[in-house]
Amino acid sequence: MINKKKILVTGAAGFIGFHLVKKMTSMGFQVVGIDNLNPNYDKKIKNDRIKFLNKITKKKLFTFIKCNIDKKNELMKLNKYKFVYIIHLAAQPGVRYSLLKPEIVFDSNIRGFFNILEIAKKNNVKHFMYASSSSVYGGNSKLPFSEIDNVDSPLNLYAASKKCNELLAFAFSHINKIRSTGLRFFSVYGPWGRPDMAYYLFSKRILQNKEIDVFNNGNHKRDFTYIDEVIQSIVKILKSNKFNKKKLHNVINIGRNKKIKLMQLIKYLEFYFEKKANINFIKRQKADMLETYADIKMLKKIDPSFKSTEFKEGIKKFILWFKEYHKNDFNF
Ligand SMILES: NC(=O)c1ccc[n+]([C@@H]2O[C@H](COP(=O)([O-])OP(=O)(O)OC[C@H]3O[C@@H](n4cnc5c(N)ncnc54)[C@H](O)[C@@H]3O)[C@@H](O)[C@H]2O)c1
Repeated sequence: MINKKKILVTGAAGFIGFHLVKKMTSMGFQVVGIDNLNPNYDKKIKNDRIKFLNKITKKKLFTFIKCNIDKKNELMKLNKYKFVYIIHLAAQPGVRYSLLKPEIVFDSNIRGFFNILEIAKKNNVKHFMYASSSSVYGGNSKLPFSEIDNVDSPLNLYAASKKCNELLAFAFSHINKIRSTGLRFFSVYGPWGRPDMAYYLFSKRILQNKEIDVFNNGNHKRDFTYIDEVIQSIVKILKSNKFNKKKLHNVINIGRNKKIKLMQLIKYLEFYFEKKANINFIKRQKADMLETYADIKMLKKIDPSFKSTEFKEGIKKFILWFKEYHKNDFNF
């Protein structure tokens, strides 16, 4: 039976948005997905994700609309829909991109966020969920990062934009009495991933016999989180009744509570590709966090069945997809 509840997923052509649309439509939800298909990384994969979704979902369950969230007039295209939930993932992600194109990051991540809040208000949605990021923990030294820690030291504009989203969402919930939840994602990876992230970029360059730039002499550590767990968590959080009724805005770490050294990631890539990486060690950039490490007690309270994929297994699944998708032609 078709579940008539309509969900708006922004950033539907993006990595996480694509997997979320796939999951929600498989559960029978009607999903409207929006994205401006911008070229912050290879547009081909964004178009391919949408093509794939159109192929695998029943037509009535998925509608894709190309629009830019920072242009209010473009969002008029959504006026005819009545949304019950909004999951807002569209943003210009990535620390390096925010150093190169700060204005675009500001427009999409802050102005765009505000515009989507207006839609949430108009539709009086049951739950507004949005992508925050582990980068809000910025210069914090206490590990693992917990939702109750102060997050007042963003190290770059991207992190600052996510912190700003959390503040805007808090005020939005307070004024409109609508539940909102910020999802602090920790280095999400997996099939159909983002070509600008280290694990994807390194894979490509290893196969092209090109040097890979490794910042901070390889001493960065990341709490890598496999995409399937991220999607399962979003679904559980969306309909959870375990929230404190009086606390309408919450933030939740979506991580694994395990730290992986960047050099360990490279070792796994070398192992699975059966190829040695040509590494160019570079010093740390001041916009980079040294490590990320999630306290996931809150997530486990909401989803006691939460289990994480071993990093070695997750990377293997990514590589199998990567070889298949690029058909052994890595000159993209
Ligand atoms: N992948 C991660 O490791 C990670 C970690 C922390 C936070 N996040 C956040 O999760 C969300 C999804 O990330 P992702 O990895 O899927 O990134 P992604 O870049 O693959 O997806 C984001 C999508 O948003 C779209 N978009 C950007 N600006 C837009 C605009 N102005 N109008 C309409 N669409 C626009 C892009 O075209 C893209 O398809 C982002 O908000 C990101 O900041 C991701």
